[in-house]
Formats: sequence, C-alpha cells, structure tokens
Amino acid sequence: MRISSAFICAGLTFLWSARAQSSSVDAFLASESPIAKAGLLANIGPSGSKSSGAKAGVVIASPSQSNPDYLYTWTRDTSLVFGAIIDQFTLGLDTSLRGQVDNFVASQEIIQQISNPSGTISTGGLGEPKFNIDETAFTGAWGRPQRDGPALRANAMITWANFLLKQNNATYVTSTLWPTIKLDLDYVAGNWNQTTFDLWEEVSSSSFFTTAVQHRALRQGIALANRIGQTSAVAGYTAQANNLLCFLQSYWNGGSGYITANTGGGRSGKDANTVLASIHTFDAAAGCDSVTFQPCSDRALSNLLNYVNAFRSIYSINSGVANNVGTATGRYPEDSYMGGNPWYLTTLAVAEQLYDSLIVWKQQGSITITATSQPFFALFSPGIATGTISSSSSTFNSLTAAIENYADSFVAVVAKFTPSGGGLAEQYSRSNGAPVSAVDLTWSYAALLTAFGARNGVVPASWGAKGLTVPTTCSGNTGGGSGGGGTVSITFNVQATTVFGENIFLTGSIDSLTNWSPDNALALNANNYPIWSVTVNIPASTSFEYKYIRKFNGAVTWESDPNLQFTSPASGTFTINDVWR
Ligand code: NOJ
Ligand code: NOJ
Repeated sequence: MRISSAFICAGLTFLWSARAQSSSVDAFLASESPIAKAGLLANIGPSGSKSSGAKAGVVIASPSQSNPDYLYTWTRDTSLVFGAIIDQFTLGLDTSLRGQVDNFVASQEIIQQISNPSGTISTGGLGEPKFNIDETAFTGAWGRPQRDGPALRANAMITWANFLLKQNNATYVTSTLWPTIKLDLDYVAGNWNQTTFDLWEEVSSSSFFTTAVQHRALRQGIALANRIGQTSAVAGYTAQANNLLCFLQSYWNGGSGYITANTGGGRSGKDANTVLASIHTFDAAAGCDSVTFQPCSDRALSNLLNYVNAFRSIYSINSGVANNVGTATGRYPEDSYMGGNPWYLTTLAVAEQLYDSLIVWKQQGSITITATSQPFFALFSPGIATGTISSSSSTFNSLTAAIENYADSFVAVVAKFTPSGGGLAEQYSRSNGAPVSAVDLTWSYAALLTAFGARNGVVPASWGAKGLTVPTTCSGNTGGGSGGGGTVSITFNVQATTVFGENIFLTGSIDSLTNWSPDNALALNANNYPIWSVTVNIPASTSFEYKYIRKFNGAVTWESDPNLQFTSPASGTFTINDVWR
C-alpha cells in the first residue's frame, strides 16, 4: 500500500498524496474486468460455459456443487447481476448483451409463476429465495421468504423498461414487461411490512437492505406506471412508498452513527447489508440526500466508517493496517458461515460507495461535512471542521484525492487476495487471504464490474430519489414479528460431515436444550446435508451455553471446548450458524 507522508494544504493536514487513482489498481482492474465479465457470463444459461443445465437467462449463483452447493438460481443474485448487465447495455458500455436481457425477462416470467414452498403466484410465492436451475421449485428447508427478491427484480426490469420507452418500444413495455413488473410491485406494496429473512438468509425480522430496495422499487414503479398510463395502481404504491420511507428512517442508530441492519438477530447490526443498500439505491440526481441514505450522505458515510472498523481487529489479514487505509470487510463481524471470512463483494461495495460519492461531489461542486460525517472526513484530515467545501478551493481537490485513494485501497485489498487467473470466489480467508467457499461467484464478478464502473464515473439511471421527504405520519411499520409467549424460535444449523449411520445432536445449559443430557439431546435433521438443523423454542432474552454432539454406534463424541454461548433475542426468530469443531 502506498501512503505518502502527511503534507499541509490550505491549513489542513492531509494524510494522503493529492494524486488520484492508484496505478496498481488501474492495472488490476484493466486485467480483472474482462475476467469478471467472462466469469459472469459463464454462469448464465443456456450457453454459459459453467452453467450447463441452466435454462436460458437463468443465473447460477456459482458452479460449486458441494460445500457449499450453489448450483441454484437465487432471485436476489440474479436480479443484481442483471441489474449490472442492464446498466452496461443501456448506458452503451456493452452493446452485445441484448439477447441476455431478453432471456432474463423470459425466464423470470416463468419463475414468477412456479408454485413453491413460499406459496403460489398469488399467495406469497414471489418471496421464494431460490429455484432449481431448470426452472422448477426448490423444496428443501430454507430461510424463506426473502422479500428483497421481487423488489430487486422490479428495479432491474423497470430500468430496462425505461430504456425501451426511449427507444419507442412502448408496446413491448406495456404488454410484456409491465404485467411482470406489476406482479412484483403488488407483492412489495402488499407485503413490505411482513417479516422477512435478510439478504444473508439467516435473520428473520425486518431488514434495512430489503426495506431500501422495496422503497426504490415502488418509487421507480410509480414513475413507470405514470409514463405508460397504467395509473390505477399508482395511489396504492404511493401510500406504501411513503410508509416505506418512514420505516427506513427507523434503522438509523443516530447515537452510534450507523444503520442497524436488522430489527432482529441479536447482533451489533453493523452489516454490509447497509453498504449494499446504499450502492443499490444510488441516484446521483438526489445528491447527498440522507433520507434515502445516498452513498455520500452524512449517515451513509458515518455508517461506512463504523462498518469498516468492525472488521479491523477481527481478521488477522487486517492487522497493522492504518485507520485511513482500506481493509478486508465481510458480511458482519459475528459471521461464522464457512469460517466467517471477508467477502469480495462486500469489500468492493465499500469502494463503490466511495466512488459513487465522488461522482456526486464532483457533479455538485462541493462537499458538506456535518457533525454526523465529520469522523469519516477526519480520517483524511484530522480535526477537519464541519461546513461546506467548494470545488474552487484546494481543500476540495485534496480531500477528493484522498478519498479516491481510500476507495482504491479497498480494491487493492481485493487485488492482493485475487488468485492468479483472476477467479473470484465468495470469500477470502480472514487469516491468509486465500479464496474460500463457492468458486466463481456470479455476484462477486458483478460487484467487481459495478465498482469499476463507478470508479470510471458511470452513473446509473435515476430512480426518483430526488426531493423525497419523510411524511409526518407513518403507518404499517409493524415488521419484525414476535415469537410471543415469552419464547423465541431459534434454528440451530451446524455444518458437519458425517459417515453413514452417524448423527448430530444438540444439548445445552437450559431445559429446552435438555440440560446437558447427551441421552436426551435433540436430534438435528440433515435435509440440507452437510448442514444439520433443528429449530427450538427458547425463552426470550436468555443467555445459555450449548454444544453439538455426534452419536455413532452408541458412542458419543462431544465438540471440542469451549462451550458455545448465545443470548436469545427479546422477540422474533433467529438462526444460528455453526461449524462443527
Ligand atoms: C446458506 C446461506 O446462503 C448463507 O447466507 C448462510 O450464512 C448459510 N446458509 C448458513 O445459514
Ligand atoms: C449466500 C448469501 O448469503 C446470499 O446472499 C446469496 O444469495 C447466496 N449465498 C447465493 O449466492
């Protein structure tokens, strides 16, 4: 990492050189972006080289078929990937992608209609998170529903529809795209205040990312409906969009300066969920609006600082890195999935939020520092005062250059831990940076491409965030759910490889966990092997210890020490993900 010595500029000390954009990051992105594009396309059926068996337009999450098995199609991953593809095509960056987009639309029309464990098209089936790649229902146990999917799909398709309208293709938009989009918007308008699993498929409560993308979907949908004269739904969407915007504010934890990602879950709440929400609801026309948590808003920058800092001391690959230099970041600090490592797409999201911010600051010709964002800006200029810095001042140039370098330093982390060959897995090891978990994760490749685009100043189409105000009265924000009766439902998942005839059990320090009795220990099911699972009602707000045990031919083997420990949340449901020790 290249850090210049401090220098004095306009009376302020800057900790970075004024040189913008790192040449080593330039070189990495120049070589990696074609690899990412090819890797992404390889994972899309019917002809992607790594997606054999996938129907046309179906995005596989990853070709990995074991540990983890990601050879499925998730609506979230697919919609984010096609969001990126649609931006590339509609902004004229890659004109070869038209056929892919048509395949995406056609396959989603089919997938919407598949009856699945979340329901039918009219009874909640749109909230189903994942499907088989041959466009049939996945019927195994899973964290469902996940209500971000329909919103993300609508956001991608509306962006596509708006482009086609400019091409005078109103008939196709009205007769083909609109009915598909409307199904998703109706689902969002009707269900946004219902409990959902978060984007990481673990916490069942309300979730900032989900609320933010739902809000965007309705706003963008209202504008499209008006444009094509489909006005009957507009009043209803408007009422719920206002309620969503109200509810969105409730996640802001002003006292601590960050967005609490989920209303349930019993964690710190610092989570890439919030950074991803900011970049996927970026609207440059809205400036640094804090009500919609725009990337350069004071809230989103303070949140970014708190999120990044949550990983500084927990990953050994981050040790010794200065506070104003990028580090590896993951989903959330408490994560233990596949060892709880940094993820490529979350580290890239930090860079993208900063590049988006730079686009807006340069466009509006100023940076405003509030008491909320001051600690973020102080990374680059200790003691910097609140106020507005105009682009005519040299401070503006120094500060934007410093933040550009800071953004690049997150990409540099990704560059450092990208293996030769350029393949991007889901995670990279917290202790040595080696790739971990699913190989060739489609979403990782999309994240690289959108971060690169933002660094190059690519501005996605506006979705109508500009000038929104929070209504004075809000209703409907009852999301979050409750276990009721003083207990909460906790799902224990443990990843454990077993031999035939060997089974996994759970026991712990409280009655509902059989008071450490191996004889009475609760049996886990292996429906999703190698994940073993059991759901238990546990008293709310209660601290307990537990362990998994194996039983084979009458012999009991305990997990190694120490005991695992957990405090149940006050309400809601929760999922614990462990790996057998
Ligand atoms: C698979 C999910 O996709 C992942 O997000 C989660 O952490 C694990 N299951 C454990 O629940
Ligand atoms: C696990 C992630 O947590 C989830 O967000 C994603 O949809 C799936 N993997 C598939 O990539």
